Amino acid sequence: MAISKSLTSPERGNLSDYSGKGLLSIADLPPGEIWHLIQSAIKMKQGDKKEYLKGQAVALLFEKPSLRTRVSFDIAMWQLGGHAIYLSPSEVGLGRREQIPDVARTLSRYVDGIVARTFSHQTLELLASYATVPVINALSDQEHPCQALGDFLTIYEKKGRLKGLNFAFIGDGNNVASSLVLTAARLGVNFSIASPSGYQLQRKILLKAREFASHSEARIFCTPEPHLAVKEADVVYTDVWASMGQEAEAENRRLAFANYQVDAQLLSLAASDALFMHPLPAHHGEEVAVGLIEHPQAAVFDQAENRLHIQKAILVELIGAR
Ligand code: CP
Ligand code: NVA
Repeated sequence: MAISKSLTSPERGNLSDYSGKGLLSIADLPPGEIWHLIQSAIKMKQGDKKEYLKGQAVALLFEKPSLRTRVSFDIAMWQLGGHAIYLSPSEVGLGRREQIPDVARTLSRYVDGIVARTFSHQTLELLASYATVPVINALSDQEHPCQALGDFLTIYEKKGRLKGLNFAFIGDGNNVASSLVLTAARLGVNFSIASPSGYQLQRKILLKAREFASHSEARIFCTPEPHLAVKEADVVYTDVWASMGQEAEAENRRLAFANYQVDAQLLSLAASDALFMHPLPAHHGEEVAVGLIEHPQAAVFDQAENRLHIQKAILVELIGAR
């Protein structure tokens, strides 16, 4: 039985609305389910050693490199009594050696879930539409939902609450920023983002976030000015200027983002106990000043650890009931 079945929360949505469909976007999760995943992850972290996924397996289908996501999903399955099979970018040749619908249907005959990291979000959607097992987004060009959920677990642990906190994102309106703004808007966390012209959040993400915020009373603020975004922030967050797949744009992006580095001075303009967060990998000296990761307010390795706990909760939720 999935752990979700034994836990209740007044804020939970209806599980049957999405259970078994996987997790491609934070928009798939009602606020109650996000809370449930956070609570479930805390229980896992506190030492719940039950093998909820004994005898079950997932495929880790990756088109891009990874350290945290690959290792944390593999260890998560092992700790839950199940098994993970890693499929590297070169061996499957998704859409080249073999068509995506055929990969989805073949893997569905072997495993109970597919954890996929893709260049295009459409690849994930196509995989999910043909797979008969849940597909979990392990990062696409659109979103990184497992990262955002682990990050809000980290913030909740450190601050003891989420609703009403102020979150500031400095930099590219990328996949990580998109999942973060959607999670914040779902949970009533105020979200400010400072990005240079041409690198803001996608309009469709912003519209969706504003729709969620209208229910949660979160405020969403977009500005080109980092110092305005971090005012009264409880969290200051940044990510790389050029994401995986954008390597050819790296030089242009370095110029566009030159004034968007998070350093100790910018952090000092936020609340005195603001967290500094980064999903890693970091480019020290670009989006994050050299040494900031060692700052007493930095929470980056807690974020990395919490990927394991939140993903255990996600796996149990989506795959445990199968
Ligand atoms: N933060 C994150 O997803 O790291 P990896 O790319 O190493 O998996
Ligand atoms: N935005 C980054 C996140 C890496 C975890 C990328 O997509 O490369």
